[in-house]
Amino acid sequence: MNLVVVSNRVTRGKANEPMTGGLAAALLPVVENSGAIWVGSSGRVREGSQKEPFAEVEALGSGALAMLDLPAAHYGGYYEGFANSALWPALHSRSDLIRVSNGDYLSYREVNAFMARALLRFRKPDVAFWVQDYHFLALGAELRELGVTEPVGFFLHTPWPAQAVIEGVPHHRELIGAMLAYDLIGFQTEEDCRNFVSYVRADLGLEVRNGVVISHHGRTRLDVFPIGIDAEKFAAAAARAVSHPDVSRLRRSLNGEKLAIGVDRLDYSKGLVNRIVAFDRMWTEQPHLARAVSLLQIATPSRGGIEAYGNLQSEVAKLVSDVNGRHGEVDWTPIRYLNKGYSQAVLAGLYRTAQVGVVTPLHDGMNLVAKEYVAAQNPADPGVLVLSKFAGAANELDTALLVNPHDVDGMARALAMALAMPLTERRMRWEAMMAKLRAHTIDHWLADFVAALEGCKSTRTIADPRLVESRAFWRPRTASGGNSPKRQLQ
Ligand code: F6P
Repeated sequence: MNLVVVSNRVTRGKANEPMTGGLAAALLPVVENSGAIWVGSSGRVREGSQKEPFAEVEALGSGALAMLDLPAAHYGGYYEGFANSALWPALHSRSDLIRVSNGDYLSYREVNAFMARALLRFRKPDVAFWVQDYHFLALGAELRELGVTEPVGFFLHTPWPAQAVIEGVPHHRELIGAMLAYDLIGFQTEEDCRNFVSYVRADLGLEVRNGVVISHHGRTRLDVFPIGIDAEKFAAAAARAVSHPDVSRLRRSLNGEKLAIGVDRLDYSKGLVNRIVAFDRMWTEQPHLARAVSLLQIATPSRGGIEAYGNLQSEVAKLVSDVNGRHGEVDWTPIRYLNKGYSQAVLAGLYRTAQVGVVTPLHDGMNLVAKEYVAAQNPADPGVLVLSKFAGAANELDTALLVNPHDVDGMARALAMALAMPLTERRMRWEAMMAKLRAHTIDHWLADFVAALEGCKSTRTIADPRLVESRAFWRPRTASGGNSPKRQLQ
């Protein structure tokens, strides 16, 4: 199978490149080792029509990376608009933060259609397309409309929320109906998959039997593929990273004090405010822990043009400064707060230095930081993972100290327990988690998804031609009409 992987964000995989999220870091080895072509946004936009949409195509391990400038007229409505101000909050059960402007949905669909047209150049015998994440929910339908009959799979990296929440997304029926053009839709957890099935039954009125839904697009298989990491490789990187200058400087600065670490994008789904309040509570109620432990919180700025992210940035900065002001001493800073990104190589060393990993999102698809923290530990003296029970990773990493991120007192107690945990218990918990990481790596994730997608090959039925007509209401017709892929690429 000639695999074409598609995601909004891509990475070149350079050793010192800061990582802003789990998806790009996870897909990098998939592409490097499988020989796949990875198509995504170059991060730049371009005015007008594009004769040659790919700005750069370069080798990436045994695969290749193709980066595309997205259309300037639609980029804002697509990325900051519909994807990150409507879908993202809904997918993380924050209906209160859903904001939609006129034209956002149209722009989202236009960018999906643009990507579909661009992908045609990768169509060759035995091709299969594997679309990633909520930026491209409708890409499968766009590919079908262009006549693509090859397998097209989709994997959602975020949670899928309860039916009532997704109903808060404008155009949800049309959009989720379009998702059924995929042959295979993969979720991180059973709960995400169940929520999707409930929606399909209740809102689309379709039957789902044995994980298969039949719509006018044909058959779509729904299944669960929890994403993993290359635990051995990450462990080796962590062992090497102790000599990295940033990691050595951190160790030297600790003076026997213990370290807790949090690494997140600055996103309201990550539970940063509650986490900091929990540390505040711990230092207030257990004053002997002041000076005994500090928090290194790396919070990489993200999606800064969106109001909710700007507000969060101010709120967290104010809170950190308040906590540091109250608990700090002339020679002790309780929270080291860094608004920048670090490479995977440096992060591996930072995780290994910390006795506690704090991963407490309010809601998260998987959270690969949790898995990376575990993999980075020294087997002889591992740290303790304090993990939100609302992260997908909690299904596997069930010997972490699982916490409710809304219960700050409970989190404060769990942090104190982590700091006091004896070596035997730390090793027992860590070994159980590490065994799971080894048993379910990123290679297994790739192999399982691709095998399931291969299995869909024979089941695709011809799309109902009425589909093409039913979409005309949202697509602005050009003067010449029609949507010929050739014409639109020019
Ligand atoms: O699933 C969500 C996700 O794609 C993560 O994998 C990643 O952390 C994040 O979103 C990246 O967001 P952005 O590309 O907007 O920085």
